[in-house]
Amino acid sequence: MLDDPDRLSRIDPSELMGTFSSLPEQIEEGLAGVRDAAWTHPPSGRVFVVGMGGSAIAGDLAHALGRWYGGVEVQVTRTPRIPPYVGQEDLLIAISYSGNTWETLSAFRQALGRDLSCLTVGSGGELAETSSTQGVPHVFVPPGFVPRAALGYLLAPLLTLLARSSTRLEKALPGALTDLGRIREEWVPAVPTEENPAKAIATALEGKVPIIYGPPPYAGVARRWQTQLNENAKTLAWHSILPEANHNEIVGWLEGSNPERFAPVLLMPPSDSAIHARFQHTLALLEERVPVTSVPLLSEDFVTGLLELVLLGDLVSVYLAVLRGVDPRPVGSIDRLKAANREGGGEGSSAEGEI
Ligand code: PA5
Repeated sequence: MLDDPDRLSRIDPSELMGTFSSLPEQIEEGLAGVRDAAWTHPPSGRVFVVGMGGSAIAGDLAHALGRWYGGVEVQVTRTPRIPPYVGQEDLLIAISYSGNTWETLSAFRQALGRDLSCLTVGSGGELAETSSTQGVPHVFVPPGFVPRAALGYLLAPLLTLLARSSTRLEKALPGALTDLGRIREEWVPAVPTEENPAKAIATALEGKVPIIYGPPPYAGVARRWQTQLNENAKTLAWHSILPEANHNEIVGWLEGSNPERFAPVLLMPPSDSAIHARFQHTLALLEERVPVTSVPLLSEDFVTGLLELVLLGDLVSVYLAVLRGVDPRPVGSIDRLKAANREGGGEGSSAEGEI
């Protein structure tokens, strides 16, 4: 079914498959677009990303890269309130592709009220308008995408700040983009299922609830797999982190009922890492009860491996959409909730905490 190009173009008429595949080009274009911007010096403090869904995920990837390469620390906030400890030495980056997401706008307004240093990223909407009236620098990303398919553009400003605070990342990035462009050729629709890992994984997940496990540095990648499966393939899916899950979830897997409803996917850590053996143990135990999809890390270099796994998961989600016969683009349920947010509920009066 996945090897039928007519089915693919019928089910994915807006060609999200191609848009997701353009991740390296989006990043390159995005980096070039902000190279000379005035805001590109990392703050002396931390970077706080506020955003939701397909916009916030750029922050998760930046968080992982900052931790790995020792660049500026990036934290992500997915609430309408910002943490009380964001200070004057920090930079708050509000990312909303549409520019109209209630939670993100609410957090941004709060940051303005506290006179924090801000940067915003999006394709227009109220976020861009407010930034312009308040003199906040705004990175415009190209319009016409669905938010999650503009990941490269949304990530580029964060990568710029990170690369300026870590020469190791700065050096690794060009090679990572080249490798990404090369490896995606192995996952394109023209490569038949038996030779195409992206199609093979989608086939293994059909009819199941995928649960994606990753090691801590790949938490953002595991979340991206989950959310892409949710939004593109329109299926329930969750993600979790190993080895932590070996201290709780494993009991449900091994001693719970009906595990065959679920499909575990293990994003494997590097073979020389301390937790590789733990993943192998978990894999062996899970296999006693259900088939397990194990996805090896494709490159030892962190940024390359991270981006490759992101792209692989994106394509898996579109192939699963094709298998399920659902258009990966529309997300009517999210639109309904956004409309309800716009229509009412007020801003709330709690000044405490993040809710
Ligand atoms: O990918 C999507 O469509 C969603 O996850 C959105 O990113 C999410 O609803 C937030 O919207 P926005 O990215 O426009 O702020």
